[in-house]
Amino acid sequence: MSKTGKIGIIGGSGLDDPDLLRDARDVEMGTPYGKPSALLKEGTIEGREVVLLARHGREHTIPPTFVNYRANIKALKDIGCDRILATTACGSLREEIGRGDLVILDQFIDFTRRRQVSFFDEFEPHGAVHTAMADPFDANLRGRLNGACDKLGLTHHNTGTVITIEGSRFSTRAESNMFRMWGADVINMSVAPECLLANEAGIPYAAVAMSTDYDCWKTDEAPVTWDEILEVFRGNVEKVTSLLVEVIRELD
Ligand code: ADE
Repeated sequence: MSKTGKIGIIGGSGLDDPDLLRDARDVEMGTPYGKPSALLKEGTIEGREVVLLARHGREHTIPPTFVNYRANIKALKDIGCDRILATTACGSLREEIGRGDLVILDQFIDFTRRRQVSFFDEFEPHGAVHTAMADPFDANLRGRLNGACDKLGLTHHNTGTVITIEGSRFSTRAESNMFRMWGADVINMSVAPECLLANEAGIPYAAVAMSTDYDCWKTDEAPVTWDEILEVFRGNVEKVTSLLVEVIRELD
């Protein structure tokens, strides 16, 4: 049995750099749901025990639909993580959320279609499990992320609703406009079901989203491309890593 008290970091596209950790070692984990996306990387940041997991695999070979979100959350739980900080690239659905800005998410809309959204394929007799999801991102971790953004002077948004789409394709203009009308602020392909599974597993979870593009709703801009996303987050990735280090340093 692994000891508890570790901090899990799920690295999204381009935000899964193993060099973040000191004394790093790879750990292979299996779960009843299959294997996580990659070997877990255990090590320390600022003297705190952390476990890093590359959401899409270390070589980014796993499309969003085929990420084994259940195995990822279960593996982090089994290795002893009692908090998860996730990172993700996202598209902006609001003029005021600019490229390179960070958004500390507080709500999600799950627009995925082909994913496992619960650990329970079957309930125990008279043991139904329906998890509360009104406020799915942990308030304490969110407060710390926002506080650290303030301290480091990073342009950020204290709240934000993310809509997670199935992908791997981007949205049509009609969809993008509809998501804006629904009240979504940013768009990505991975926060659901990861966040809801962490809630079901009882692990406090927060996510920092880096805005890389304006999706396709803006009529004065060319629609998003994968190359644009890569270029913008490569240019801003150190904001996210410095934020994680700052938050982890200050965690109890
Ligand atoms: N990730 C980054 N930008 C995105 C977009 N526009 N749509 C979906 N996922 C994204």
